[in-house]
Amino acid sequence: LKKRYKDHARQATPVVQAAVLGAGIMGGGIAFTSARRGTPVRMKDISVAQLELGMTEAAKQLARQVKSGRLSQPKANSVLGSITPQLDDTGFDAVDFVVEAVVENLQVKHKVLAALEDAVAPGTVIASNTSSLRIDDIGAPLKRPEDFVGMHFFNPVPVMALVEVIRGERTSNHAVSTAVGYAVAMGKTPIVVKDCPGFLVNRILTPYINAFSQLVADGADFEQVDKAMEAFGWPMGPAYLQDVVGMDTGVHVIDVIGAGYPQRMPAVERNAVKLLASRQLYGQKSGAGFYAYAADAGGRLR
Ligand code: 3HC
Repeated sequence: LKKRYKDHARQATPVVQAAVLGAGIMGGGIAFTSARRGTPVRMKDISVAQLELGMTEAAKQLARQVKSGRLSQPKANSVLGSITPQLDDTGFDAVDFVVEAVVENLQVKHKVLAALEDAVAPGTVIASNTSSLRIDDIGAPLKRPEDFVGMHFFNPVPVMALVEVIRGERTSNHAVSTAVGYAVAMGKTPIVVKDCPGFLVNRILTPYINAFSQLVADGADFEQVDKAMEAFGWPMGPAYLQDVVGMDTGVHVIDVIGAGYPQRMPAVERNAVKLLASRQLYGQKSGAGFYAYAADAGGRLR
């Protein structure tokens, strides 16, 4: 581990074999990043189609890197081969670290994590990639809460440097340090934060997105707002950012932060993010959100 993480290095278990639950945008991105940085990973999902999407996206990223000369073809093949897509828990008893990246629903997470706890060996660290739910709430039914930690990645996972590592009340130093070590091994910049709704980034980002929605409700043109914020220096304006994050995730985070800090998050009437979600316009993942996306562009062009 780098010098600044040396205190964690003493307590961390090096992650030799990892697993990810969920092959969606976040789970697939985490699995790809882990493999690309040298940690083999099992990627489990309940849907074959979702597993195929996750593998196709990983293959596309690798092909781009081979084309630009950053990676040899044999190395790309070995990276892809170090991601094992699967529908069951095969090999989970031998992994050091699992990242849960399933749907943001407390009941679903409870169910999935209880089964996962039985499938892995004691001491295996289990992390949730929740965007805003409290780690203590997600981990409430666990038998070994000391092995449970939050690990919040940002979208797109392969390029976003920051990872929030969330320490729950019962999380052990070992689990925190192992998450920090795994994040560093993935080339990320981890920060350890306290457990609260939205952690650090979404407590800042969500009021911004709500302020944007208020502007739109007041009559502003979302494209003009995007252009203004991009000229201001942000890498993408709020509408495009929300399309990348996904309207479903956006609504979830708005609701969690709104419930957690009602005095600081006035409700927005005719909230653009919620309106689009109610029409199944989820952003890049569904082909349209604020903007429409070309199907053959991998959802990456507005
Ligand atoms: N997947 C993988 N790689 C991607 C990508 C994607 N979806 N989109 C872009 N990239 C890569 C490109 O391949 C390129 O890599 P290279 O230089 O090695 O070839 C690099 O990123 C730059 O891409 P572009 O030149 O096409 O585009 P930009 O210069 O606009 O950069 C961006 C793209 C890095 C995504 C930049 O726009 C950005 O930083 N946007 C902000 C994203 C952000 O704020 N994310 C956080 C969302 S909040 C969240 O996730 C939390 C949740 O809880 C809500």
